[in-house]
Amino acid sequence: MLPTDLTLLAIESSCDDTAAAVLTEGRVASSVVASQRIHEGFGGVVPELASRAHQRLIVPTVEAALVEADVTKHDLDAVAVTYGPGLAGSLLVGLSFAKALALGLDIPLVGVNHLEGHVYSVFIEEPCPPFPYLCLTVSGGHTQLTLVPEGFVHEELGRTRDDAAGEAYDKVAKLLGLGYPGGPPVDRLAAEGDPTFRAFPSPRLPGADGRPGFAFSFSGIKTNVLYFLRDLNDAERQRMLDEHLADICASFQQAVVDALVGALRDAVRETGVEAVAIVGGVSANRGLRAAAEAAGQADGFAVFVPQLAHCMDNAAMIAVTGAFKLGAGQTSPLHLTAQPSLAL
Ligand code: KG4
Ligand code: ZN
Repeated sequence: MLPTDLTLLAIESSCDDTAAAVLTEGRVASSVVASQRIHEGFGGVVPELASRAHQRLIVPTVEAALVEADVTKHDLDAVAVTYGPGLAGSLLVGLSFAKALALGLDIPLVGVNHLEGHVYSVFIEEPCPPFPYLCLTVSGGHTQLTLVPEGFVHEELGRTRDDAAGEAYDKVAKLLGLGYPGGPPVDRLAAEGDPTFRAFPSPRLPGADGRPGFAFSFSGIKTNVLYFLRDLNDAERQRMLDEHLADICASFQQAVVDALVGALRDAVRETGVEAVAIVGGVSANRGLRAAAEAAGQADGFAVFVPQLAHCMDNAAMIAVTGAFKLGAGQTSPLHLTAQPSLAL
């Protein structure tokens, strides 16, 4: 599936990870991610700090990716880069670097939509899904269910009306004093807790027929956690956090996973498509992966999730998407601009 006669460098800097990858001889030969630890104490990404860190990290990250793949910049046939969506300042660092490199080496530039990158992250390693497949993108910035009938065609079934699934994890983790990013600690604690401790509202919105549809809202569940803790006095709240932290995490995760997997099951039933991909940072969630796998076995659909390293932001997915775009003759002009609110 991946071209064997192409050596391509990919760069991803849309949020708080500076990432570079090299695709050569039909495989991703290196994928380096420099995560910016500077945001941990802030409960979220600080845009200005992120762009400055990208400037500091972009050269060593690209160099590390080239060295690990055992190629030099003179071996490169093309440069792929994320141009949106994301933080403007962060995108600009990777994009400017990629443009300069493409210009200097006189090789094509391929602009990649970050969300498209996530959607094709299931092609980084085997087994890859067949077309058509249903794709649930669940990240810190997006939650979207699409049908992918063929390459570069995305038919939306539904998306979130407010917060993204990952954002809900981050905000709930902040309320629980678990730091940023919130997904991993909540996921870890959820495995030890009682999911029936508290019934949180479902993040799935009703469709036109009044039954649960494919649109989501994650702000209600976050507010529910907020009010639940706020309505306790200081001593009760402390006791709740001391004794039931894992139970709150498990109950929250159960509501999120039920909504996401429920939507996938209904989408399979409605479309007849029997291949499902789950991508983006939240696809690293152990509860979600296990529940999707179990639903697939019960209902007869196949589930494709990237390796853990390729769930979170990375440049391997930009490399694969860039190679597909190049194969389809899609290159970008050197005046390509960063598009912070680009849609899928
Ligand atoms: O795809 P990603 O790296 O960046 C965006 O494009 O947004 O996703 C990051 C999001 C964060 O909100 C993080 O809390 C969430 O993915 N995340 C998880 C887990 N690991 C990361 N959410 C739930 N469970 C996890 N294990
Ligand atoms: Zn992402």
